[in-house]
Amino acid sequence: MTLAVGVIGTGVMGAEHARLLRSSTSGAHLAAVCDADESRAKAAAQGAAVFTDAHALIASASVQAVVIASPDATHAEYALACLAAGKPVLCEKPIAATAAEGLAIVQAEAALGRRLVTVGFMRRFDPAYVEMHSARTSGRIGNAVLLHNIHRNLSAPDWFTGAMAVTNSFVHEIDISRWLLGSEMVTARVTSAPGGDPMMVTMQSDKGEIVSTEVHMNAGYGYHVHAQMVGRLGTVEMAAPTRVLTNLAATQSFDFPPNWVPRFTEAYRLQMQAWVDATLAGRTVGASAWDGYVTTAIAEQIVDGMTSGGQITLTFPLARPALYA
Ligand SMILES: NC(=O)c1ccc[n+]([C@@H]2O[C@H](COP(=O)([O-])OP(=O)(O)OC[C@H]3O[C@@H](n4cnc5c(N)ncnc54)[C@H](O)[C@@H]3O)[C@@H](O)[C@H]2O)c1
Repeated sequence: MTLAVGVIGTGVMGAEHARLLRSSTSGAHLAAVCDADESRAKAAAQGAAVFTDAHALIASASVQAVVIASPDATHAEYALACLAAGKPVLCEKPIAATAAEGLAIVQAEAALGRRLVTVGFMRRFDPAYVEMHSARTSGRIGNAVLLHNIHRNLSAPDWFTGAMAVTNSFVHEIDISRWLLGSEMVTARVTSAPGGDPMMVTMQSDKGEIVSTEVHMNAGYGYHVHAQMVGRLGTVEMAAPTRVLTNLAATQSFDFPPNWVPRFTEAYRLQMQAWVDATLAGRTVGASAWDGYVTTAIAEQIVDGMTSGGQITLTFPLARPALYA
């Protein structure tokens, strides 16, 4: 028997996770889907059971593990229900809409005494980020001193405000920076262009590494994520996000993807396979509930302090529980 997975929320991300479970993941199958909009759930089900109530899906005896891909505001409630039911869960980022809700998930999991939550920070499975990570952990570029991140979107709707750019987009940069450097962030400073976009966020880690990130929601030319790590011996950075180069009319060129789905297709697939493999083996993989909480706590403190333009000292009310050592 393969792992029976239920997917909650079958919009852009949930439909992709459902597709991966149906066609590209070994050891698992899509057992159920749930969406508040039943027609969306039915479109993604393709033979799987259909629910419109997420709690009914989580409680269902035919679901062994859960993927949460409904809106951010629903994550904490459903993740806590998965913990109460003792079911492993892959929860899309962010773990919760607020740090307090994220902390509640950490505390519930710590009380349970076993890890069931993975947060869908899929960049940890992206082949380019994985190579950059190993360039540091192998010692090849020496001790890291700087990390430059670029996060550019083609365009964003008007309601995607500066605060949302931090809590919904920049959270990826917080998580990948902590993971690439193996460090905790201790300070942050935000400088915004007129109108609020782009913004530059500069963080410093507990080891003194400097992390600079351009968060640019209306870059105009495509979806572009880039990172360069500077070590004492050398640097490592992503190559252009392309498989082919076109030579035409005296110019060499490649296309940028319009959004994150094509750019991170392989990362989503590898993440799903790794999560299924770990779940079947009784382990967890990827970003933990603690990582999810810290990331949301940092984002929240940056939003609270960003209008001042001064240095923000990042604090956490809880020391890392032993479960996440
Ligand atoms: N990892 C990534 O790179 C990445 C990228 C995009 C989005 N996300 C995250 O994935 C989640 C979903 O984003 P999306 O872009 O797919 O959004 P979306 O709006 O396309 O889809 C959300 C779906 O959830 C459904 N829904 C709403 N309330 C619900 C509820 N209470 N119970 C069940 N279903 C409900 C909606 O009807 C919709 O179909 C968000 O948390 C977002 O932050 C992650």
